[in-house]
Amino acid sequence: MAALSDSDRARLFAVACTAGTTNLGIIDDLEGIGAICKQNAVWYHVDGAYGGAALAAPSARMLFNGIETADSFIVDPHKWLFAPFDCCALIYADPAKARRAHRQHGDYLEVYYDGTWNPSDYAHHLSRRARGLPFWFSLAVHGTQAYADAVEVTLDRAREAATMIDAHPHLELVTDQQLSICVFRRLGWTPDDYKSWSSQLLESGIALVTPTKHEGETVLRFCVVNPRTSSDDIQQVLESL
Ligand SMILES: Cc1ncc(COP(=O)(O)O)c(C=O)c1O
Repeated sequence: MAALSDSDRARLFAVACTAGTTNLGIIDDLEGIGAICKQNAVWYHVDGAYGGAALAAPSARMLFNGIETADSFIVDPHKWLFAPFDCCALIYADPAKARRAHRQHGDYLEVYYDGTWNPSDYAHHLSRRARGLPFWFSLAVHGTQAYADAVEVTLDRAREAATMIDAHPHLELVTDQQLSICVFRRLGWTPDDYKSWSSQLLESGIALVTPTKHEGETVLRFCVVNPRTSSDDIQQVLESL
């Protein structure tokens, strides 16, 4: 079956796919979608708001194969790259195209403009805070290897959590764990059971683990983004189930 019909082709100018969905951490077929976009001259955007951080981790890099064909890509350093709220990095394969789309002319804007670089040329909004500065500062202080190591630690923790869930007599993984998200069900529980367990866990000061839904079913979701989350922390949560 053709991926795009003739009428799709006539109307479509961009495709946005996800490199790590919010709920389940699933990564789209970045290679396949990228190839179709290239064949059809459609702008190819990848949303890595949460998952894009795992590009820094060698053990997860292959999950993102094909991302190099994207025209644009975003990652939120305030999610899994340890930066303060609210910082989104937007990266273009060819910034000149973005500049042609977004550049605004105003004589009052030209005073300090050297003709080559003005951040406001690369997104639709003109005014913005220096959101990237805390992230840049942290990167400059710690170096990229510290980021790779920290993301690997959280991935390892999520893999351990998935193994513990598999071994737990009352728990069942709902989807395969790929990134640092584990989605699982507690056999025999109603939505109210999930809700009251989550409130009690928070009240006890152990953890905040909230229920979500998958295909209409109430389930639980871990999203490990803090390298200080220990195996013991996870075990303690799972033992309370
Ligand atoms: C895949 C994905 N895209 C976009 C967003 C929205 O991010 P923000 O709230 O920083 O705009 C999220 C937030 O969880 C996300 O996981």
